[in-house]
Amino acid sequence: MRDTLTITTRFAEEVCEGLTKPGQKELPSKYLYDALGSRLFDAITELPEYGLTRAEDRILERHAREIAARVPQSIAIAELGSGSGTKTRRILSALYRPHHTRYFPIEISATALAACEREVRDISAVSVVGIEREYLDGLLEVAARRQAYEHLLVLFLGSTIGNFEPAAALVFLKKIRSMLEPGDFLLLGTDLLKPVPVLLDAYDDPLGVTAAFNLNLLARINRELGGNFVLSQFEHEARFNEEARSIEMHLRSRQAQTVSIDAAEITIRFDAGETIWTESSHKYGLPEISRMATESEFECPAQWIDEEWLFAENLWMAG
Ligand code: AVJ
Repeated sequence: MRDTLTITTRFAEEVCEGLTKPGQKELPSKYLYDALGSRLFDAITELPEYGLTRAEDRILERHAREIAARVPQSIAIAELGSGSGTKTRRILSALYRPHHTRYFPIEISATALAACEREVRDISAVSVVGIEREYLDGLLEVAARRQAYEHLLVLFLGSTIGNFEPAAALVFLKKIRSMLEPGDFLLLGTDLLKPVPVLLDAYDDPLGVTAAFNLNLLARINRELGGNFVLSQFEHEARFNEEARSIEMHLRSRQAQTVSIDAAEITIRFDAGETIWTESSHKYGLPEISRMATESEFECPAQWIDEEWLFAENLWMAG
């Protein structure tokens, strides 16, 4: 397990890299999820405008037995990005096995991991081993710990795959596939294309929760890296990139200004109206999902779609 110092250094490096990029400035979206950011994301999932999480919940609830029946009896479950564990109970009860099941949440946020472990502790026949790692490093560790008789079920829910650029998503899925054995499974959540106004409302809610979630990234840089961002000098923006079929979140500088970040040893100039790109959330078409599966060498034995908020849960099998 890496220590706090290394993690902070990595954060500082990536912030420096993103903010000194020529052209569009950017920050990696994974840093949105510190303790406060994770709470703010949980609040987003309660917003009437953000239907994504409820759609996935409905699918997992309605089709729990079928999902459970389609995966092998002896499985170890690895979840990429368990979050604070609010959905974990539902998933584990959905996938309930009569015999002992090991559950490995993989999560870079120690706070989220601890919350997740607390949430699951009292479920019988399930043991939890939290892995504080980046997704692929974590999965490698889980794969190394698997028992000969166990199959692996990897959960990658909530359309987090959509945070990757399509080409990077494919590379990522291929890496997951390379760690799996034939007969292992991936349960992949994908948010589907829907009318642009619906998407814009979901990522720019009138209550301002998403704005707070986005701005917290600057607040976090202030807290952890000694930055001096004045939050009121930046505003949240959501836009739909038609070509990429992604919702993008940006933070727009309200005026020309300079900001310095001690731990990254940088001073950055912003023009009035210039933005920092903080997240992309890709929206999928169904043929695109099939193509991704084929190209990363998975079979797709089942798919469930929520019609109320177009969302697809995909069960893929390593062939
Ligand atoms: C958790 C990555 C799926 O992209 O919809 C919610 C994050 N960003 N509102 C998404 C998010 C703004 C969310 N994911």
